[in-house]
Amino acid sequence: MSKKAILAFSGGLDTSISVSWLKQKHNLDVITATIDIGQDENFEAIEKKAYSIGASKHYTIDAKQEFVDNYIFSAIKSNALYQNKYPLATALGRPLIAYKLVEIANQEDTKIFSHGCTGKGNDQARFDVTLRSVMHNAKIIAPVRDENMSRDEEIQYAQEMNISIEKKSQYSIDENLWGRSIEGGILENSFKEPPKDIYKWVNADSKLDDKYIVIDFNNGVPISIDGITDSIEMITYLNSTAGEHGIGIIDHIEDRLMGIKSREIYEAPAAVVLIEAHQDLEKLVLTRNELEVKSLLEQKWSWMIYSGLFVDPLVKAINSFVNKTQERVNGTVKLKLKNGSLTVIGRKSNNSIYDQNLSSYSASSDFNQTYSKGFIEIWGLQSKFNEGETT
Ligand code: ARG
Repeated sequence: MSKKAILAFSGGLDTSISVSWLKQKHNLDVITATIDIGQDENFEAIEKKAYSIGASKHYTIDAKQEFVDNYIFSAIKSNALYQNKYPLATALGRPLIAYKLVEIANQEDTKIFSHGCTGKGNDQARFDVTLRSVMHNAKIIAPVRDENMSRDEEIQYAQEMNISIEKKSQYSIDENLWGRSIEGGILENSFKEPPKDIYKWVNADSKLDDKYIVIDFNNGVPISIDGITDSIEMITYLNSTAGEHGIGIIDHIEDRLMGIKSREIYEAPAAVVLIEAHQDLEKLVLTRNELEVKSLLEQKWSWMIYSGLFVDPLVKAINSFVNKTQERVNGTVKLKLKNGSLTVIGRKSNNSIYDQNLSSYSASSDFNQTYSKGFIEIWGLQSKFNEGETT
């Protein structure tokens, strides 16, 4: 009997040819697994495709709840934006997929894994590092990367093996609840405006009337958005509502792990809204020093997730710090969506350290201004020696 390989299967070109390759070149039994983390796909069609190419068994696993509660919510608490732009949708999804592959491998009693990643992207690191952290001696076969295949060679192999390629899109697209990542084709020209037809979630020409959104946070995570309290529904509601209002397109030049710069387009309406709202609320309740240290750690956290090191102990250590700060991130944020722009228009919290009485310019303020004079004299003590005195 052949040994078994567990292949992360999306039904796209890379993973489809991997099924044939593993069987033909490695003489393996291929068990395909599709993990549902909110990509808008027909999972039955994917399963059918897997069997039609020669999978011996297929798993479809719904991991949406876990993705929201354990991955997306961590990202919100950490205001996670890689290079201040990318909310990490794809990067957060990969470790979860890898964990699910390991669960299947344990059930199927194998240590052989496969994925369709290329050697140029970040996804290979995210899969390999997570898989090996749980199964140290895992064997990982990534045919496209390991054989240095180009897209044209992949297509040729698919034709030889009679694998149908439905999606002739020039783009490489990855999608989950936290965002859509679009790369390749014409987008590789960094100066060219992306064609509107790449967008599925965001109406780039939105002219809808103003829309107000109210978000309640508890311990740094949303617990109610316009009355919706189910965590998956909150995210899908924001993706559609903010998307319709033209919010959530990100176009930037990104530094990949392997040193390559790439032009990336993302649609991430829910992520953009939630991080903006969360960050705003934090300013109401956290101290200046907390905010400063937290923002440094957020950048580090985002890099760790981006570069595939989700399992590194540093991530857990940063999570502990972040979770401690989030105990006070409770309250309500109001936002306004208008013709593609997003503005926070109000926030309140029982943990607020904003004191209207202190900041007010009105007569009733109990801030004693006369203390400021002496404070500033001492504050500037050293600085004043750096400029030549003018007479
Ligand atoms: N650049 C993004 C990242 O590394 C998106 C990758 C999208 N992956 C894909 N297979 N299209 O997270």
